[in-house]
This record gives sequence, C-alpha cells and structure tokens, in this order.
Amino acid sequence: MTGFPLLRSRRLRQTEPLRALVRETRISVGDLVYPLFVVEGNGQKQEIATMPGIFRYSIDMLPGEIEGVAKLGIPAVILFGIPSNKDAFGSAAYHPRGVVQQAVRTVKQSVPELLIMTDVCLCEYTSHGHCGIVVDGYVDNDQTLKLLARTALSHAEAGADIVAPSDMMDGRVKAIREALDEGGFNHIPILSYAAKYASAFYGPFREAAESTPQFGDRRSYQMDPPNWREALREVEQDIAEGADMIMVKPALAYLDVLHRVRNAFNCPLAAYNVSGEFAMVKAAAQRGWIDERQTILEILTAIKRAGADFIITYHAKEAAPWV
Ligand code: PBG
Repeated sequence: MTGFPLLRSRRLRQTEPLRALVRETRISVGDLVYPLFVVEGNGQKQEIATMPGIFRYSIDMLPGEIEGVAKLGIPAVILFGIPSNKDAFGSAAYHPRGVVQQAVRTVKQSVPELLIMTDVCLCEYTSHGHCGIVVDGYVDNDQTLKLLARTALSHAEAGADIVAPSDMMDGRVKAIREALDEGGFNHIPILSYAAKYASAFYGPFREAAESTPQFGDRRSYQMDPPNWREALREVEQDIAEGADMIMVKPALAYLDVLHRVRNAFNCPLAAYNVSGEFAMVKAAAQRGWIDERQTILEILTAIKRAGADFIITYHAKEAAPWV
C-alpha cells in the first residue's frame, strides 16, 4: 500500500523542532550584502522618502554606519556614489578623489575586514542620467567601455575588494578585466550584473541616487523583462569575458530566471532584492497590511531557495538579528 493513509506529510510539520530538522533552505547573515548611498558634503544623513530607514550618508558619517553594519555580522556592503556635479561624460565616476573613491578609502580604514563592493556605472554621474555616453540620442556602447574600465580601476586603486558593473554595455566585463589586470589588480574579482532587466522596480533607487534618465528610458541596454533564454546568453558571455560572480536583478519577479541560471552555471550567483521590492514591503507594513518580519524572511528565503548564493538587500540590517 502506498499513499494515504500510510503517508501523511503533516507528520513532519507538527512542531517547530521537527520542521527545523527537515528545513531545506536557511538564510544566514553571511548571505546578506547591504547597499549604501554616499553623498558629498559633511554631516549629512538624509532619509530617502521612498525607502523608509535608508539614508544617504556623507563620507564623514560613514564610519559610524559601517561599524554598525559590521557588528551585525553583515560581511559586505555595496557603495553607490551621488556626486554634487554631473556632466555629459560622467567624469565624477572615475575621478581619483570622487565620492565613491573617497568613501572606499574611509570605509577601508575604519573597518578593514568588511568587504567593499562598488557599483560601476555612469548613470549617477551623467547629467542626462544614462548609463553611458550619449551620441545622437543613443547610448554609445564602445565609447562607454573605456570610461567604465577607468571607473572600475579607480575603485580598485581606492581599495575596493570587488567591482560590480551594472551598466549593461556589451563587452564591459572584458574591458574592466583588462584594465584591472594592466593596472596591477588581477586579484580583484568582478561581480557582473549579468542579467539586469529594464525594470519598474528601480523607481525608488533612482530617486535615492538621483539617476532617473532625463530623456527616454534604459530599454536599449537593459534586458527586456519577458526574456529568460537571453539571460542565459548574457550570463554565458559575461563568464567568458572573465566575470567571477554573476547577478540576476531584480529578484522577486525574476525567481524563475535566477533558478534557471543556477541550474545552468556553476559560477557564484547573487540576486539583487531591489528598491521597489523593499518599498512595497515597507509601504504595506506601515499600513499594517502585512506582517513585516515574516514577509521579509519569506522573501529572503525564497530568493535563496531559487538559487542565490548571496543577496544584496536593503533589509540586511533589520534582518541580520532575525536569521
Ligand atoms: C545603476 C543601478 C541601478 C540599480 C543598481 N545599479 C538603477 C538603474 O539601473 O536604473 C537599482 C537598484 C535598486 O533598485 O535597488 N547604476
């Protein structure tokens, strides 16, 4: 005899110790990466209206914040810079004393053991808000590569442990790898935002980073949301160009993509639980419409279950004591 009543799935669900014994997926604080926004100036801690509990910090305010992050056991942060001056070529992105470069030096000094990732992109630094150089209204791929490579190299020179290109130009991983190797940084890994979709879920981030495109949108370089096979091609190409780790972004509406990438490649895999995903949870929790803690833990667990090795998430600090 097989099946019910011989088999009863509920037997293993009766108590928490029993459920814990057979639990298939766990998150730990070591899986979480915390994003930080850095602005120029002094004494700044500006709350981002669309992301409750998330702030833009000036560099002098970073050590205090970073020490708190490290004390929670969070192993890594990813830094985003918001310069006070933007131009058509995003030159503040690769300036040796740019806001991110200075932030990296400061953070490395205050907490040397914390891993510092840097987002490599031009959109926060260009006056038009696009992720590359604009020529005749179109983002020029090959001219942008040189600037991305310069940006990544300047981050490594400042002391970044990992560089993470998010621009979605073709060939950027190769260009960055070559620049790092020639610059004496062949030991610095690249985390490529390999499958990054043109998503509405980045809305609150663009507000936080002041990086909304001034004309058009990002669909000529970020991926079209309906496509998953293309994601596998993007990942394959980035690994071939030298990516050490790859990322799928956003996470929640793309768990299928995450899972397929996990099955197809052995490379370490990250997921970005993006600003819009964070904002939805916060908005509903503020209204008392969902249980915030349960929701956050369920989301982070689902991202791991789908296949992520680690998760970049604005929930990292609040979730750290719970996991
Ligand atoms: C681009 C970048 C973006 C995000 C991370 N890197 C924005 C974009 O592509 O428009 C989004 C992250 C988030 O929404 O949390 N530098």
